[in-house]
Amino acid sequence: MSKPVLILNGPNLNLLGTREPHVYGSTTLAEVEQMCRDRARQCGLAISFRQSNSEAQLVEWIQEAIEAADGVIINPAAYTHTSVAILDALNMLRVPIIELHISNPHKREPFRHRSYVSVVATGLICGLGVNGYPIAVQAMADLIKARQSGK
Ligand code: DQA
Repeated sequence: MSKPVLILNGPNLNLLGTREPHVYGSTTLAEVEQMCRDRARQCGLAISFRQSNSEAQLVEWIQEAIEAADGVIINPAAYTHTSVAILDALNMLRVPIIELHISNPHKREPFRHRSYVSVVATGLICGLGVNGYPIAVQAMADLIKARQSGK
């Protein structure tokens, strides 16, 4: 039985569209969710799209994924650069993990160059704007298919 892919979004991404549009663009998170749903439908993937400003909530969702998800796509936002708790939770997963950023953190301030999530991520998509989201959905569908066919 297929399980959904969790698409998790961290702090301040609820304000996408109005938040620093010169960095993150003018597309809202609801529009990004729709982009993901459209691509997931084309790929035959079920998704659960979520956002929280709370590190604890993100950890709990990742724990839920241990049993209940076929993959996790995560834009941990600022927690990327600070959260050992999120890394520890992700370390318990046995499914593909895609780390996703709208901007390219490596082109930005030095404190954004370190990612705790990259240590465990299967792959990383960054710097492609919100188009990175449907690209991540497609990549996740391919990873899941490859796992299921034993590749
Ligand atoms: C971000 C990059 C992070 O450095 C930043 O703290 C964010 C968003 C991105 O999507 O580009 O909140 O994850």
